[in-house]
Amino acid sequence: MLEKQLEYIRSITDFEPEVAVVLGSGLGTLADEIKVHCVIDYKDIPEFPVSTAPSHKGRFVLGEIEDKRVVMMQGRVHLYEGYTPAQVVNPIRLMRKMGARVLMLTNASGGINRNFNIGDFMVINDHISCFVESPLVGKNDEKLGVRFPDMSEVYSKRLRNIIKDTARELDIDIKQGVYLQFRGPNFETPAEIKMAEIIGADAVGMSTAIEAQAAVHCGFEVCGISVISNLACGISDKPITSQEVTQTADRVAPYFKALIKKTVGKF
Ligand code: HPA
Repeated sequence: MLEKQLEYIRSITDFEPEVAVVLGSGLGTLADEIKVHCVIDYKDIPEFPVSTAPSHKGRFVLGEIEDKRVVMMQGRVHLYEGYTPAQVVNPIRLMRKMGARVLMLTNASGGINRNFNIGDFMVINDHISCFVESPLVGKNDEKLGVRFPDMSEVYSKRLRNIIKDTARELDIDIKQGVYLQFRGPNFETPAEIKMAEIIGADAVGMSTAIEAQAAVHCGFEVCGISVISNLACGISDKPITSQEVTQTADRVAPYFKALIKKTVGKF
C-alpha cells in the first residue's frame, strides 16, 4: 500500500523533503507561509486516511522553509475518527518514504503540570502511549523497521536542544514535559487527569504519541511541541470546549510559527 501511495506522489512530484512537520489543531496556517512547491490532497492518495476533525484541512504541503525542503501535514488523522492505529500512522510512514529523515510533531493539548499556563509551549521530552494500542501491532514490515524497536529516546535530545535554544533566541518562554495520549474524543474526567498527573504526565492530548512510535520504528529522528491550549479537566474547574482549544492556538500562532520556522531551518 505504501509503495502504491509513493508511486502516486512520484507521479506528481520528484520533490524529496528533508524535514516532515505535522501541524496540530488550529496550527495549520504555518503551511500557508512556506514557499510552496506543490499541494497534495489526502483524498487523492490511494487508500489514504482523510481527516474529518474540525480545523484539519487534509493535505500535504511540500515546499521550503529557511532553505530546508519540508513536507507539512495540514491536518492529521486521529484514532477517535475511527481509524485503526496503523491507518493513523500511514501518513508518517509515507513522509519517510518520500525521503524525510527528521519529523516534528505538533499538537494542542491540555495542561496538567500546575506550573503551565494556557498558551505555553512545551517541548515533549517523552510520552506515555500505553492507553492506546500500538500502531506496530500485527505483522512487522521488516523493510520499515525492526519488530521490537527501542523507545529510550523517542524525542531526540539533539532536536530538543535546538528547539529550546531557538525559543531562547526568540525570547519565547518554553516549558518541557511528558505528553500522554488518550484515545478521545471525549475530554477526560477529573479522576483520569488525577491519574495522569500521578503517573508523570505534564500534558494530555489525543494524538502524537502513536505517531512518534511509528516514526521511531521507521527511522525518523523525532521531536514534538505541544501548545497548552487549555488546562486539563480538574486542573481548572472550567469545562473544556474545542472552541477554547482552537482559540488559544489562533492566539499563539504567530509565536508558534516563528519558533517552528527558525527551528526547522536549523535541523
Ligand atoms: N485533553 C485531551 N486532548 C486535548 C485537550 C485536553 O484537555 N486539549 C487539547 N487536546
